[in-house]
Amino acid sequence: MSPANSHPADSAVAAGAAPVSGTNVNAANEALWLLDTRGRFEVRTSTLPTPGPGQVVVRVRAVAVNPVDAITGPFRRLVTPWVRYPTVLGSDVAGEIAAVGDGTTRFQVGDRVVGYAAGQERLRNSSEEGGFQRYVTMLERVCAELPDTVTFEQAAVLPLGLSTAAAGLYEKDQLALPLPTSSPSPRGDVVLVWGASTSVGSNAVQLARASGYTVIATAGRRNHDFVRSLGAEAVFDYRDAEVDRQIVEAIGHRDLAGTMAIGSGALTHALRIVARTSGTKHIASAYPDPLTRSRALLARVRGIRVTSIWGGTPVQTPVGPAIFRDFLPVALSSGQFRPAPDPTIVGSGLERVPGALTALRTGVSATKLVVTIDPTEITQ
Ligand SMILES: NC(=O)c1ccc[n+]([C@@H]2O[C@H](COP(=O)([O-])OP(=O)(O)OC[C@H]3O[C@@H](n4cnc5c(N)ncnc54)[C@H](OP(=O)(O)O)[C@@H]3O)[C@@H](O)[C@H]2O)c1
Repeated sequence: MSPANSHPADSAVAAGAAPVSGTNVNAANEALWLLDTRGRFEVRTSTLPTPGPGQVVVRVRAVAVNPVDAITGPFRRLVTPWVRYPTVLGSDVAGEIAAVGDGTTRFQVGDRVVGYAAGQERLRNSSEEGGFQRYVTMLERVCAELPDTVTFEQAAVLPLGLSTAAAGLYEKDQLALPLPTSSPSPRGDVVLVWGASTSVGSNAVQLARASGYTVIATAGRRNHDFVRSLGAEAVFDYRDAEVDRQIVEAIGHRDLAGTMAIGSGALTHALRIVARTSGTKHIASAYPDPLTRSRALLARVRGIRVTSIWGGTPVQTPVGPAIFRDFLPVALSSGQFRPAPDPTIVGSGLERVPGALTALRTGVSATKLVVTIDPTEITQ
């Protein structure tokens, strides 16, 4: 085995971590398995994965939880009908490269990375690629090198929020805007981000700015300064009875380049605003497809296009590497892009993830719930 694709157990020891379960390689990995759609979890040991071509194995140091991880019951089957149980959830991973597969030259063992764990994607559908485990197999194309200035906990907030925002803004069948650059030329038109204090929205504001657009946004009142700090020109309270009128006035004579509708009720407001402004009448909705489809049909009669975003789409399109490989590492290093919203660390260890999901169900405001994984604390 060449150093380029050395086994993760070697790298764990080489990187100075405690030996993983002595010589018992079978107990060297641990994963949090979702046993069924009712939301029962169990931590089990498993073998260490070996990366295939275009893949890396990442020793996980921090994970974040997302609304899709928190879904239980029949809705889970509606959103990801292809998944067979037990399965390993988790999209948001930050950690260190433990092994690299053939053809992967961008990363070396030990590199600090953040990436999108794609195990729940229809075309991957693989528990080895679920983020809630110690060693996860990931697609190199949706991993990004981390500068030393960004901690694992900070970085873990990025992947699904960033990927979903990028899908809505850049995929050809979504808003199809020009990709972000390190020195964007200002454009005259406006991107509306409804729900900008969400994880998806925080990323959408920053990406739209890095594509040169002016951003007008909504968020709860206490998060207006936060959203402005991400680059929004103006922020309005989505609970305000006058919010649609305020936004139409703020856009004024400028054209809308596109609208991101995030959060409950977002599409209803976005439809009203788009009908009363000039420019692109296209709304990208973060709501899952079955719920958005009927609204889209009705909107089409009024000349408004509504498309439903799937956050994992960039995993297999050019948008994924354009964001994770070409844009993010440089933008994080320069400070042009920051991991947002800030993490709230709820504990350490895979067994803390179900509690994080329970907390997420009760609601968060401008934060992402993160669980750290201590590489020295293997439990088996
Ligand atoms: N389609 C996909 O593939 C995909 C992927 C990821 C997420 N999503 C969906 O996108 C949405 C956001 O997910 P997330 O993880 O980014 O959320 P999140 O960060 O967990 O959302 C928390 C934020 O939601 C905001 N919020 C609550 N109600 C709102 C409303 N009615 N309008 C606008 N904002 C509201 C709160 O704002 P304040 O505290 O400022 O009031 C809070 O900051 C969810 O519906 C999620 O299911 C879809």
